Amino acid sequence: MSANQDSDRIIIFDTTLRDGEQSPGASMNLEEKMRIAEVLEDLGVDVIEAGFPIASPGDFEAVHEIAKVVKNSTICGLSRAVHGDIDRCAEAVKPAARPRIHSVIATSPLHMKYKLQMEPEEVLEAVIDSVSYARNLCDDVEWSAEDGSRSEPDFLCQVVEAAIKAGATTINIPDTVGYAMPEEFAAMFTMLMNRVPNIDKATLSVHCHNDLGLAVANSLAAIDAGVRQVECTINGLGERAGNAALEEIVMAVHTRNDSLPFKTGIKTEHIMNASRLVSAVTGFAVQPNKAIVGANAFAHESGIHQDGVLKHAGTYEIMTPESVGLSKSTIVLGKHSGRHAFKKKLEELGYVLGDNAVQDAFKRFIDLADLKKEVFDEDIIALVDDEVVRTNDRIQIGELEILCGTKHRPPKAELALTIDDEEHSCAATGDGPVDAAFNCIQELFPHEAKLQLYQVHAVTEGTDAQAEVTVRLEENGRTVNGQGADTDTMVASVKAYVNALNKLLVKREKMAPAALSA
Ligand code: KIV
Ligand code: ZN
Repeated sequence: MSANQDSDRIIIFDTTLRDGEQSPGASMNLEEKMRIAEVLEDLGVDVIEAGFPIASPGDFEAVHEIAKVVKNSTICGLSRAVHGDIDRCAEAVKPAARPRIHSVIATSPLHMKYKLQMEPEEVLEAVIDSVSYARNLCDDVEWSAEDGSRSEPDFLCQVVEAAIKAGATTINIPDTVGYAMPEEFAAMFTMLMNRVPNIDKATLSVHCHNDLGLAVANSLAAIDAGVRQVECTINGLGERAGNAALEEIVMAVHTRNDSLPFKTGIKTEHIMNASRLVSAVTGFAVQPNKAIVGANAFAHESGIHQDGVLKHAGTYEIMTPESVGLSKSTIVLGKHSGRHAFKKKLEELGYVLGDNAVQDAFKRFIDLADLKKEVFDEDIIALVDDEVVRTNDRIQIGELEILCGTKHRPPKAELALTIDDEEHSCAATGDGPVDAAFNCIQELFPHEAKLQLYQVHAVTEGTDAQAEVTVRLEENGRTVNGQGADTDTMVASVKAYVNALNKLLVKREKMAPAALSA
């Protein structure tokens, strides 16, 4: 903990836009990243890791633009321990009210020998050189020991001490491969606090991956041992099995403040809004039984539980739905519901939207209510989220007509797409209506990507339910998830496919820099 920091204040460092975006299939365009950054700022996140500026011009631009608009959170960019990375990062975060450069190099024997092919002495030199170089460009420098949890204790102490001496203001020890156990991980931080003489000159930070499902437990153990910055992501997004979930860490601290007597700056009522936006933008659905933000997190199915909750919510609820931005409501909307009721419903569902966005959503709600007698909460979530994923896309859907059934063999689709502002249309047949529609897309926008997943689920019950479709495409080892929702399953399918293609276009611009695994 640094000298001027509250001893019980936990700094929440969100890396959804960097480590989260490294999840296979999750990629975001500039506008989506900016929306997420604004929501993270509203949520009260202390540090937003906005990207990896050297990775691509798109990454640079995203960090740079976010740095211009976010005022209350520190904006951080990642860089490897080389001057080119650090220069690019410094330039990207420059407009921020509070800029930070995050420099990383691996320190475990395995990573140094095989990945970096460097001797420990060379790594030590690179740490000193990169941190002092970064510190000349920015007052706030975080240094990370990649694969820290599998590093030799003596060497770790040596590099941490050197990094602080070179000017690092935050020292982050990641459990890069999710290998640590809570007790041993806590003991490692205690060891650093006892053995590194200048440790009090920097804030200690933790960054855990979830390969063994222990990311949150390890992060909490580290906090308990004295760490005061925790790196996490919304919905636990991140490389492989993901990172520690922000909402789980924050709600554990809030709910079990008796055993974790700390505070965060997070406005917990904004959690659902952030979770939904990240899920909609990345196409990563939140599993229903996910802690805090899953659809079932506050649902009580068994009669005994329902009875208990009605008598006293505390019988089966350890936190209130309202505390994470949900409110219980039985209001079902229909076509006679007015704007006011609709706005109230959005608030109950945890959405924090500006006036224009509410207005747009209301128009789409009226269209939906014309098709469906009752509009349920799930419909409204699908409707708002569906719009989120479609702004600023290079490929936009025009008209779609499908002929299928026993009379039409083979099924035929006619589709118009606007690609980079130019309209194109075609007709194609296929083995089924979805195949015909996807063949049209292939003809209008030829691509090599392979369809890996096509999944449909009904948002609510009944034959008038909206269909929510997920499409996963793979091209040269890159995967993307696309989503689409509509009362017409074919329209939802085309929306999902086109959404995945748009994401692939964003992803094509990126090339992952070598020698950085997580
Ligand atoms: O998991 C990891 O080690 C990382 C570092 C870049 C902090 O993501
Ligand atoms: Zn990571």
